Order: sequence, then C-alpha cells, then structure tokens
Amino acid sequence: ELKNNTLIVVLGASGDLAKKKTYPALFGLYRMGFLPTGVKIVGYARTKMDNAEYHKRITSYIKNVDDDDGKAKLEEFKQLSTYVSGGYEDGESFDKLNQYLQELDGGFQGNERHRLFYLALPPSVFIPVAKNLKEHCYSKAGINRIIVEKPFGKDLESCRELLKSLKEHWTEDETFRIDHYLGKEMVKNLLVLRFANVAMGAAWDKNSISNVQITFKEPFGTEGRGGYFDEFGIIRDILQNHLMQVLSILTMERPVSFAAEDIRDEKVKVLRAIPPVEREDTLLGQYVAANGKPGYLDDDTVPHNSVCPTYAATTLWIHNPRWEGVPFILKAGKALNEAKVEIRIQFKDVTQGIFKDIARNELVLRIQPAEAMYLKLNTKTPGLYTRALPTEMDLTYKRRFTDVYIPEAYESLILDALKGDHSNFVRDDELDVAWKIFTPILHWIEGKNGSAPRPVGYPYGSRGPKELDAFIHKYGYRRSAEGYSWPVTN
Ligand code: BG6
Repeated sequence: ELKNNTLIVVLGASGDLAKKKTYPALFGLYRMGFLPTGVKIVGYARTKMDNAEYHKRITSYIKNVDDDDGKAKLEEFKQLSTYVSGGYEDGESFDKLNQYLQELDGGFQGNERHRLFYLALPPSVFIPVAKNLKEHCYSKAGINRIIVEKPFGKDLESCRELLKSLKEHWTEDETFRIDHYLGKEMVKNLLVLRFANVAMGAAWDKNSISNVQITFKEPFGTEGRGGYFDEFGIIRDILQNHLMQVLSILTMERPVSFAAEDIRDEKVKVLRAIPPVEREDTLLGQYVAANGKPGYLDDDTVPHNSVCPTYAATTLWIHNPRWEGVPFILKAGKALNEAKVEIRIQFKDVTQGIFKDIARNELVLRIQPAEAMYLKLNTKTPGLYTRALPTEMDLTYKRRFTDVYIPEAYESLILDALKGDHSNFVRDDELDVAWKIFTPILHWIEGKNGSAPRPVGYPYGSRGPKELDAFIHKYGYRRSAEGYSWPVTN
C-alpha cells in the first residue's frame, strides 16, 4: 500500500478527464482523509501556467464545497498541489519533471517517494508518455504505478499492439487500467448480492431466468465530443467496455476468493464462452434533430454523411451450462429521454394452470441515478378475495442507507490503485476477449467487409429506435401484465 510519501502525478492535468473526474476524486479522497499522509499532487500538461493559475483551475473543477470545513480542506488541497508544464514526446521535458519530483522528495537520490502516475491523456500520446515516465521519472527506491484509461485500441489487433507497447515499459502488476463502471457502488454490490445470498444464487441460471437486459441511457448527444465519438461509436464507447464488465460480473461463476486474480480469472472464463456478436442480433440507431435539439449529423465536428451509431442494442449468448439459451441484451444510447443505467433480469413464466396471465418476476438493479434494487413479485391483494397483483419489494438506497455517502466511482478506484488492489481494474486478457466478441461486428459497421449498414434514425429525446420493442420481444422479453391477474377457477 502506498501509505506515506506518495507523489501523485496527473498527466493531462488541463484536460477534460482531469477536470471532470480525476481532480474532484482526488479532492474527495483528501477531504475524507483517504490520501496518504504527506501526499503531493503534481499536475503536468502542455499548457503553460503558474501555480496560481493552476489553483484557480482546481477551484473551478471542484464543485459543491459550501461548508467551512470543505473550504478549508480545499485550501489545504491546493497547497499540496503544484504544476509543471512540458511536452509528452520529448525526454527532456520528463527529465525536468523528474528533477521537480526529486525536489519534492527532498532532493536526495535514492530517497524517492512512491509515485502514482495517472494518464488522463488522449490515446495518441499513451505510448510516448508511458515510455518517458519509465525512462525518466521512475522512482528507484519507491513503488511506481501507472493508471491508464480507455480507449484501449479500436479493435482486437490495435488493442494487442497498444498493450504490447505499454508492457515494454510497465509490468502488469504496476498497471491499473480503469473502467470506471467497476468503481460504481451497485456494480461492486453484484458480488455480494450473488454470492452472499442463497436465495439469489439458486435462481441465477437458465432454469429460472428468461432474459437479461443491461441498459445505458444518456439524455444528451455528443455535444462537443463529436470528433472523438465519430471515430469510436457507441459500441466502443459503452458496450464493449462498461456493459461487458457488468455482464461478466453478473454471469461469472463464484470466484475461489475475493483476490483480484481469482475474480478476474472467472470474468475471463465467462467471456470466453461468448461467441462474436452476430449482425442479426444487432440494432443500430443514430439520433436525428427533434424537440429543438440538433441531430448527430448537425454536429459540426461530425462528418456530414457519418453512419456512426449513437445507439446500439446487441444480444449475446453464453455457451456454458449455467446460461445456455439465455439472451443477454446490451443496449446503449445517447440523446435519449432519460439518464439511466440498469440491469433488468426477467424470470421465466410461472407454471401455468392455477393462474392466468400472471406477471413475470423481475429483479432490477439500478446502477444510476439513485442506486436501487427492486424485485417485482406477485402478491395477493389484501382483502376478502383472491387476486394476484404485481408489486415491488423495494430497496432504494436513499431510503435504506440514510446518511451514507456513496462514493464516486473514481474515488473508489484511485483508492484501490493506492492500495495496490487490482480487483476492480481490467486485466489484459479481459480486454483481449472483449475485443474478440465485438471486432467482427465493428468491422462490418465500418464497412470493412462491404458497404457499411445505415443506422435507423431516432428522435433526440426519445426512448430510442422504434424497432426496439420488437427487438427485445424477439429475445423473449415480455412487458409485465398491467394491473392484476385473476386466478383460473375450474
Ligand atoms: C464514458 C464515455 O466512458 O462514460 C462517455 O466515454 C459517457 O461517452 C460516460 O458519457 C458515462 O459515464 P457515467 O459515469 O456518467 O455513466
């Protein structure tokens, strides 16, 4: 564990990720007393600025600090944060950075602190920066770790190349690959829900479950990120990483222990049982102008004839004894009617006979906003007659866990990286197998094997393509019966 004397270096300190996630999370940890004692944070980027300007930026990155204690903590946090500017490609800049880090160490060679390097950078500079850090800024006496973020390549081949280049400089043990969905509270709860509850464990297979949906909905379009997005598309942005991580924890076998490698071994195993996505199991959409909002193609940073999907639904199949025949429907879209990420497990029909049209049980795990779990159960309507009514057993976190702070994903993950716990980071072989599942469909979508398919249009602010209901119906999802179901009397 990096307890004392740690330097955290944020590379790309003036970029979007640092602003929205890294700095707020570092401050959150500092405020709660989770950063190592004597920690120093060094921002590094190309932009030239002095510490005063950098502190101004930090203040603007960190929201919701209204109370006196928070304000005082923010002042302290700024005092331990300093800034160095330099290039990403040239060794000299990194020599300069290293000299500065040594000054912070007290100027003694051989007395270096631990160093945690956070790469909040675009993929084009991942490799030169990783190389330069290793060659010029590696602490000889302390522990070194590097945090990197997606995109990890664009397909299987480019991912393998990227990993290979990074591995020339950093070992797997030193590398922490973030998929921030692994830091979300409800995703972390999956292990407990599944393996600490006999009742859940018993129902968790093809005998009880009809179909599963994992859904990501965002109410805004590419606003300002069109350039990046058009190159990647919704499958690479959300499905191949975030939703696949959720899927693997939802479906893996029980790990031998909570140790990182035991968990990740099981995740890889289940992913290996999934064949590549088929075209017929895919629905692609692209939003069009509606409700006073621009369409995807109206974004100036997007090529005017782009066929890049901003919505995708794909159904995956797991060929193992637990899951054979159960469809896993992954759906993600931008510019939809709401912000919501959830897992919806629909159970099979109850044996018919004594009941008619009884609603199916569903277990819904809401990842965001407002974490919740609810189980749809049929209950006899109280009263002097017999009717089965679909009701809910509701575990909404806000009601059940009052006054508990639910950490931001990045707070939880940076803390894990400081502790050296890899459980919630992505191992190299997980990436490899997730890319294997999606590479053929991505190549097809990009017209690598003929003409590219055109996504169907859906209005900005809608539920998604109108074809969606028929799509999920095809895989067995049945909308719950409205109202009540009568018992069948002979
Ligand atoms: C990122 C994607 O990985 O996740 C973004 O690149 C997306 O496009 C974001 O908006 C969603 O994260 P969250 O935590 O808001 O669900």
